[in-house]
Amino acid sequence: MSPRLRHLTTLENLPRETIERLLDRAEALRDACAHGTRKLDVLAGRTVLNLFFEPSTRTRTSFELAARRLGADVINFDLGFSSTSKGEELFDTLHTLEAMHLDAIVVRHKLSGTPDELVRHAMSGVSVINAGDGNRAHPTQGLLDVLTIRQHRPDFDNLTVLICGDIKHSRVARSDIHALHTLGIRQIRLCGPAALMPAAEEFPHCRLFDDFDAAIEGVDAVIMLRLQKERMVAIDLPDEAAYFARYGLDQRRLARAGKGCLVMHPGPINRGIEIAPDVADGAQSRILEQVGNGVFVRMAVLNEVLAR
Ligand code: NCD
Repeated sequence: MSPRLRHLTTLENLPRETIERLLDRAEALRDACAHGTRKLDVLAGRTVLNLFFEPSTRTRTSFELAARRLGADVINFDLGFSSTSKGEELFDTLHTLEAMHLDAIVVRHKLSGTPDELVRHAMSGVSVINAGDGNRAHPTQGLLDVLTIRQHRPDFDNLTVLICGDIKHSRVARSDIHALHTLGIRQIRLCGPAALMPAAEEFPHCRLFDDFDAAIEGVDAVIMLRLQKERMVAIDLPDEAAYFARYGLDQRRLARAGKGCLVMHPGPINRGIEIAPDVADGAQSRILEQVGNGVFVRMAVLNEVLAR
């Protein structure tokens, strides 16, 4: 059996067995909740700190809910768009908060690599969970995305998944790609304007497209991404209408995908920019299922790193 995780900072290089264990546990927790268990006490007496240096709606609330459902205490520390310099801000905050005897820190930060720095600097015995660092990784989003796909289409070796939009700046895309690849997906396609695509050598096993109509042909799931303007430096973008015309998911394009293609988006969605409202709210949309799965995945991860 793969060893229990102490921290979760990325899905890259995580063994398949570990990913599957977390997904299975998320499903078991979901079933337990469906049968009326609203609260477990496996993490009673443990304290989880949500340390968010970037805004968040879904991720922070679902980590909070997940921790509470497992019986842990939660402290929320939102720093919003704090612009103070990295080292001081982070480690002063960390040591101040650590003095309160934490068991886990859930961290989101605009700088890639921050969670690993916390792992190096945190007191021993404190687990670090990455809730999104720069454009590098968002492991719990990657897990909830593959869980959502698995619930509908467990035959991964038969599936083609397309990720479309601002892939260059997306930690979600990176964690999705790592998880899908480890789980043996048949094909991953990436599509977006050249300025928003990763370097081809970053993902040698993915097929890159710039024509959305060609990319979506026959796919089993499409994951749409927001334009992450807060991470863009000197990128010339077409206006929103022009972007939607080339890279927006509308009914006409969805009709080119495989039958029953799953429509996914990590949120927040921008209606009319990367996705048409009637597709976001349509019968094939799994967007709210993703949100629901987020709570169970985060319970599974907290349980993994914290259970005695
Ligand atoms: C994503 C993020 O913050 O990386 N959102 C999320 O966690 N659900 C994607 C985004 O901000 O576009």
